[in-house]
This record gives sequence, structure tokens and C-alpha cells, in this order.
Amino acid sequence: MLDINFDTLQSDHLSAIHDAQSLESLEHLKLTLLGKKGLLTQALKTIGQQPKETRAELGQRINAIKASFLDAFEKRTNQLRDQAIHHRVKTETVDVTQPVNTAQTGHIHPITQITRAICDFFGQHGYSVKQGPEIETDFYNFKALNIPDDHPARDMHDTFYLDPNHLLRTHTSPVQIHVMETHELPIQIIVPGRVYRCDSDSSHSAMFHQIEGLLVSKTASFAELKSILTQFLKHMFGSDKCVRFRPSYFPFTEPSAEVDVAWTDKQPWLEILGCGMVHPNVLKAVNIGPSVYKGFAFGLGVERIAMLKYNIPSIKLFYENDQRFLNQF
Ligand code: PHE
Repeated sequence: MLDINFDTLQSDHLSAIHDAQSLESLEHLKLTLLGKKGLLTQALKTIGQQPKETRAELGQRINAIKASFLDAFEKRTNQLRDQAIHHRVKTETVDVTQPVNTAQTGHIHPITQITRAICDFFGQHGYSVKQGPEIETDFYNFKALNIPDDHPARDMHDTFYLDPNHLLRTHTSPVQIHVMETHELPIQIIVPGRVYRCDSDSSHSAMFHQIEGLLVSKTASFAELKSILTQFLKHMFGSDKCVRFRPSYFPFTEPSAEVDVAWTDKQPWLEILGCGMVHPNVLKAVNIGPSVYKGFAFGLGVERIAMLKYNIPSIKLFYENDQRFLNQF
């Protein structure tokens, strides 16, 4: 017979299981009793060395103790788990009446919002977005756009020169040239971007944003240009607004027009954008035959559109990052 008092072993350990204060100590106890080297496991192993007559009875006894332990372990585990849950429920209460500490999140700058809205509109009408470099050569910014060296239009641009041949682009029109040089016809693009001019007052900034549009195809017409720009301006400012095309001059378009919008027929017309049919010289500069292909182009100032749309008195407000201003958009 094994030299173990099974009654004490059972009652001592059952109370130890019952008194265990944590899942870890319970686990530890389980290892001591039922693990590979545990008390009961060892006892079961020695049964073979016992006298034959006692083996069966001994085996049953040990297995019964094992079953009682397993049962006690399960009960205590459940109790400890419940206790832990109750403890959490009690201690982790949320006071729903506390003021909310919301994180301050930023939002998209009004100039970017307007730019995206404009690109979205033209995107839905078949135009794809293109971009170009902000540092240009004289050729792309002026010459290829039919603005020769001595042309008075150069004075209108108040250019920042980096060296005699490099400058900060004064408009997004040079992207017309880049795209016509590299893309297959027909072309239908919208070009948002930063442009630079030595100019600064309440409605001018040395850096501002333009959006250029260009369509080159065999059938492009002034009627098509008028149609898309009228739709665009009514979309942007409201379908009740009045739109008019007024003859104007740009070296790279012929005929050229400026487009004005009026809120009511009593208010003055506000100039919104420039446009026209691409000048044959511009098409020739990129080896497109003007007798087969026609184009129209338009260019608008994003700040100007935003200022008119939201009645903003100074362009500087867009760049000062004053939260009181920006939070209104
Ligand atoms: N590039 C012109 C400007 O900056 C705008 C324009 C673009 C006019 C395309 C006609 C056609 O004023």
C-alpha cells in the first residue's frame, strides 16, 4: 500500500483549491496535483508496484480524488472569473455626465476645398487632372504661349526670375504646352496649381492658385467652351446667377473672352475667368496642325472664386491660418 493518507490529501487540497485567491495560484496548484510530476500523477504511476489485490481499489480511489479535484478546480475558476468581472464592473464605471473631451481635428483648407470641387466638376465632364512644374523656362511660360520677348503682356505678369531663363510660373497655362507636347490627341485636361507674381494687395498675393482647362480636338468650338463654362459657373455660384462672355485679349487665345458673373441684374458684373480658342501659333509651337485640330482653354483664380463665393474681403486671410477664419469652412 502507498504510504499516503488519501483522506488528508484530498481534504487538504480541496480546501486549498477552494481558498485559492487568484487564477495564477489555482493554476500552480493544478500543476502540483495533476501536472506531469504532480502528486496524483505520481501516485497513479506507482500503482503497478502495489500488491495485486489492492491495485484496483487504489486506482479507483485515486481517480475519484482526481475527479473531485477537477470538479473543485472548475468551480473555483468560475468563481474567480466572476469575481474579476464583478470587480471590473464595479470599478470601471463610466460617468456619462462628464463633459466630452473631443480631440481637435483639422479640416481641409478652403482653397483646397474649392480646388477639389472645381476638379470634381470637370472630372465629371470628362476632364482629367494634370500638373506641371512651378519653376518654368521662358519658353513654356511665355514663348510657346505666343508671348514673345518684347510683348507688353509680359509686363502684366510681374515675373519672379530665378535667372534670365528660369522663373516661377506666372500662370498654369505652361502646363498646356507640356501636355500637348507629350500626350496624344484629343486632350481634355484640368490643371490646378500654384502660380507666382510680384504683386501684393488686398486682392493679390505673390503666390496664388489657378486652375487651367484645355480641350484640343477636331471639333472643339467656342460654343462648346461657352456651354461648359456656363454650366460650371452656375454649378459653382447657383443656377440663378447671370453669366456673360465679354471680348478680351490673351496672346495665347483667339478669340479671347473674359467671363463675368452677376448675383442679380442690379449688381455689377464680377470678372471670374479668362478663356478663348487656343491661338494657332500655340498649336504650331507644339506641332499640332491648326487646320485639323482646334482647342479651347480657360484659366481661373481659385482665391478669386472663393472670395466671391464667400464674400471674403482680403486674399491674405487664406494664408494667415487664423482659426477663427478657417473654422468657418
Ligand atoms: N493664363 C491666363 C491668366 O493667367 C488665363 C487664361 C488661361 C486665359 C487660358 C485664357 C485661356 O490670366
